Amino acid sequence: MGRAGPLSRDCADTYAGIAGLLFHLYYVRTEGLQATPAAISLLSADESVRYRRFIPPEKRLEYLVTRVLVRTVLSAALGTPPGDLRFSCNEWGRPEVEPPTELSFNISHTPGLVVCAVRQGHTLGVDTELFSRAPALLELAPQVFSRQEQADLFALPREERAHRAVVLWTLKESYIKARGRGLAIALDLFSFHFSPGHIGIEVAPCLDDQGNRWEFRLVVLGPHLVAVAADCGNSVAMSVNVTELHLSAFGAGEPPFPD
Ligand SMILES: CC(C)(COP(=O)(O)OP(=O)(O)OC[C@H]1O[C@@H](n2cnc3c(N)ncnc32)[C@H](O)[C@@H]1OP(=O)(O)O)[C@@H](O)C(=O)NCCC(=O)NCCS
Repeated sequence: MGRAGPLSRDCADTYAGIAGLLFHLYYVRTEGLQATPAAISLLSADESVRYRRFIPPEKRLEYLVTRVLVRTVLSAALGTPPGDLRFSCNEWGRPEVEPPTELSFNISHTPGLVVCAVRQGHTLGVDTELFSRAPALLELAPQVFSRQEQADLFALPREERAHRAVVLWTLKESYIKARGRGLAIALDLFSFHFSPGHIGIEVAPCLDDQGNRWEFRLVVLGPHLVAVAADCGNSVAMSVNVTELHLSAFGAGEPPFPD
């Protein structure tokens, strides 16, 4: 996608008339971006207050890019001007468009990358992590992975464990985010297992879910891993259309805006 506009018409049109389960994953690399008046003007009054008063300076750009990305993507999908979009959160903090629509979206941000996944009519969750988090995740394994996941992880050759730890954590977050309950879901109540070409999930009965409804996809974006989780029911396998966006509100040549 070029720098010309927020989302090209072609891109917006892909929401209409698609057969099968095509999910869209949009991402923005934040390195080198600077806040601009155009980007800040897209914030709602509440977001603007939060941006200026409550977001720590080192997180402000990530916050701003996230808001602009979400408004840009949803505006194209729903045909609503970006500044007119309103959001509400469920009791666990998951944002949804207000008033509700059929569109499901979810956001994740981490140093260097902001992602937004969208799909009409199917519950989804997304998470992104830096591969460099592997050592910390390996240390946290007893707290964040189920017994089965830990057993599988530590049965791997040592050189494969770091990668598996990041994969597991990113998948687990994508699932708890798709369920909309975040860390209110205990992380040992579900387990991922892997076979060639397939990622499966087993869930404890108390989660009131069926593992075989879920599809998961992993996308590597340089130093980042992204996981998309989707409740596909009995539908055909999903695919993920990955698009890098160069948001025009952060376009080159605009003067830096003081924080
Ligand atoms: C949701 C959660 C797993 C996110 O994990 P993370 O890796 O730190 O952050 P990510 O960047 O991947 O995701 C953050 C985004 O997820 C979304 N999100 C927040 N809560 C969510 C939830 N319960 N379900 C799905 N998505 C959620 C938001 O869009 C958020 O970004 P934003 O605050 O900029 O809008 C984690 O923050 C969590 O569970 N928090 C618990 C919050 C909670 O229980 N609150 C109680 C009542 S408020």
